[in-house]
Amino acid sequence: MLTKNSRLRDLYAQPVGRDILRKVLLIAGKSDTLLRLPLISGIKLKSLPKLAGGKISEGFIDSLLKIVNGEPDIPRNDVGAETPTWWKEAVFYQIYPRSFKDSNGDGVGDLRGITEKLDYLRELGVNAIWLSPVYDSPNDDNGYDIRDYRKIMTEFGTMEDFDELLAGVHERGMRLIMDLVVNHTSDEHEWFKKAVAELDSKYRDYYIFRDKPNNWTSFFSGSAWRYIEERKQYALHLFSKKQMDLNWENPEVRQEVSGLVRWWLDKGVDGFRMDVVNYISKREGLPDGDETIGALIGFTGMEHYFYGPRLHEYLHELKLGAFTPHNAFSVGETPGIGMEMSKLLTADYREELDMVFSFDQLETPGNSRFEDYRYDLNYFKKCMADWMENYGNHCRMALFYENHDNPRMVSKVDPDPKYRAVLAKLLATMQLTLKGTPFIFQGQELGMVNRDFLSIGELRDVESLNLYEELIKTMGEADAFKKILSGTRDHARTPMQWTDGEYAGFSESEPWIAAGSDCRVCNAEAQSGEKDSVLNYYRALIALRGAHNALIYGDIKIVDKNEKNLFSYWRSDKSEVFFIECNLGSSMKERRGRLPDAVRVISNYPDMPKKLLRPYEAVIWRTQGISKKSETVT
Ligand code: GLC
Ligand code: CA
Repeated sequence: MLTKNSRLRDLYAQPVGRDILRKVLLIAGKSDTLLRLPLISGIKLKSLPKLAGGKISEGFIDSLLKIVNGEPDIPRNDVGAETPTWWKEAVFYQIYPRSFKDSNGDGVGDLRGITEKLDYLRELGVNAIWLSPVYDSPNDDNGYDIRDYRKIMTEFGTMEDFDELLAGVHERGMRLIMDLVVNHTSDEHEWFKKAVAELDSKYRDYYIFRDKPNNWTSFFSGSAWRYIEERKQYALHLFSKKQMDLNWENPEVRQEVSGLVRWWLDKGVDGFRMDVVNYISKREGLPDGDETIGALIGFTGMEHYFYGPRLHEYLHELKLGAFTPHNAFSVGETPGIGMEMSKLLTADYREELDMVFSFDQLETPGNSRFEDYRYDLNYFKKCMADWMENYGNHCRMALFYENHDNPRMVSKVDPDPKYRAVLAKLLATMQLTLKGTPFIFQGQELGMVNRDFLSIGELRDVESLNLYEELIKTMGEADAFKKILSGTRDHARTPMQWTDGEYAGFSESEPWIAAGSDCRVCNAEAQSGEKDSVLNYYRALIALRGAHNALIYGDIKIVDKNEKNLFSYWRSDKSEVFFIECNLGSSMKERRGRLPDAVRVISNYPDMPKKLLRPYEAVIWRTQGISKKSETVT
């Protein structure tokens, strides 16, 4: 048990304490090496508020102790071979259906559009698809507000279209996972409607109603509480006003969720990506959030639910009740969760989730999404080195740079168009050769970049629009728009660029969000025929990874941990050894660990490597066990 008399070093020695400390330092833009200084590590927790000059309150320490002392478990760190499974070997591809392909000319992507493009995905070589939500929804948050979990959104098609898609995926030897959004439902879900309309309905316990709101804020601006006139009470919504949080304390809610998971698994889907799943358990009594924590992370109240008291219990119950009988796969979206918590959520012996998306690598220390800054890949390297070396063999890391909630990685690192292709390929090289399971977001395989939206009127996302409204209360419209432009999720939601034709070949009529003109220089059709395109590079890399176990299960050894702008590592198993070298910057870089007998397998420059690595150059070498199959050695 930690107390206020415990020291920072005691907190750091405790897995969850370490995660939280590292998170705080990350947000503050400070390195965690600080904690190795005896003067700092010896500080008592109770002295922190005074030392931090008001930035940390007593409440901060109390919450910290509650979370840390509420987690008695310690992840096992025994080594041993990983258990092989399909989802460790797979390369996943995320589809945001609204923006992928429109088959009927209404400007909105749909299920038949996806079915049309299954051969494209098979040729790309991916093994599994994650579909963002396709269920019936009023689309306040593009399907992340579900009205009926067992019905397909009319705009996307019918259940027959879905069955056809699923069959098409399986016929091609691929798998399909759905998006499970069960922290909340739409306010138009019949449960919520009944909870509001019938005061003594059992559904009132499906949601979180209170006579008085607490001070929690919503991720989409403003208070997290909405006044419900009919009940004369407030209902909790961590996201938009139309996304009402479910009450997971209620066993009936948990049974409903388990039931709908089984319903889709019975249909044959292969698993789920679970939306903000670490938020499902909220601290009893819903205490006010600490204002100093709120100021630090930008949202008030999060300490009471991002790693809630009953999270493990709920996940374990759901796993045993629904996932295990179907041998189905799960990956949780878990914002704010660090490496040690990730271990406790995903270790194979714990039976909770199979993998999580941890987000620590997405922004560099001290930066956040709605800030205009250049992402330094040296930080990515530092993060990866840490996870590669410390995540252990009971857990598997999800490797990703992009999804439907984040701007494009190429734009974040270096928006200079002359580096676009080479940088996109560098990112691909790392993603497909580091140890973990890659998740590629649609368009990433073409090197798609952020859109140069011209005005707020071109944006569609509820998060951006709400934030804009909030910002213009205190700043000029131009500045507010600039901020939104840095981080808007709409960068990832522009139509997939299939051709250089009108509307990027996505649709025959004007898309729900403008396609812009980038498709003239970046589209799948043209790249398919160009030998050196980003798309063909992805195809080659995915095939390479699939053909070599060393790249999937092999050990990883990082060569030059402290060398700036250089990221070189070995991947090896009993029969093969690969050496990957990456220049993380836009200037020339001296290489390390050149191999005498190595054969170049693939690189993002067409000619042979020179003495120095060129801007963003990436090369994969192979030393032993050279086989004739699979890839061309140039
Ligand atoms: C997740 C989704 C995001 C959505 C939110 C609320 O973060 O990825 O798109 O807005 O949850 O469901
Ligand atoms: Ca359509």
